Amino acid sequence: TDKKDLNEKNILITAGPTIESIDPVRYITNRSSGKMGYSIAAEAVKRGANVTLISGKTNLDIPVGVKKFIEVESADDMYNVVMENLENNDIIIKSAAVADYKPKYKQSKKIKKSDEDLCIELDRNYDILKEIGKMKKNKVLVGFAAETNDLIENAKKKIKNKNLDFIVANDLTQEGAGFGVDTNIVKIIDKNGNIEQYPKMSKSDIANIILDKIKLLLK
Ligand code: PMT
Repeated sequence: TDKKDLNEKNILITAGPTIESIDPVRYITNRSSGKMGYSIAAEAVKRGANVTLISGKTNLDIPVGVKKFIEVESADDMYNVVMENLENNDIIIKSAAVADYKPKYKQSKKIKKSDEDLCIELDRNYDILKEIGKMKKNKVLVGFAAETNDLIENAKKKIKNKNLDFIVANDLTQEGAGFGVDTNIVKIIDKNGNIEQYPKMSKSDIANIILDKIKLLLK
């Protein structure tokens, strides 16, 4: 699209994985490459938006034209940076894969191995999207749902819990969908329960479908 139909819209996008530190050498993370979120950022820039991209660590180049780029490590970092940038943005798209749990105790020294099994206790992280949902007001709020089973049912629960306008649900069991790849296979479900199903597409094409839907909500 060459049209600047999102001119001057302020969009906050999160992308990539979080890293939850166990000790100075080890961590818990997930398989997110950042491609989905970076594609949304790149397409939003092309359409004229002022994009703030808050990203976990990825191997990707920062999309050209992004107004503000902030790299974060943990879910707590992401929570803080998202909250600091919330007020200036009317559209929030949360494609980051945020860890639900973090190690309960921060070890300042490397954990030594012993002959015993090791158990690492985990604490809940904030659900960033749920917290944003509580203060939504007129903002457009878009979430993702990464599921391996009961895709629609789980995605619908997330729309309600997190007070979303719509959710982009990817079925991780399908080849060419979800983590790491350049394509995705998604269903978009809105808060009224309408479901749109899309075939396998590039993450850039899906980004534009998401942005088209947001544009309709802004009217
Ligand atoms: O990065 P790629 O390799 O391109 O892969 C893309 C993707 C699979 C990561 C992406 O398409 C995707 O589905 N992102 C969301 C992954 C996820 O964490 O889904 P979830 O169903 O666990 O979470 C639901 C929503 O709540 C998400 O919008 C998530 O950002 C948000 N969330 C989750 C947990 C948490 N503690 N805070 C959150 O804000």
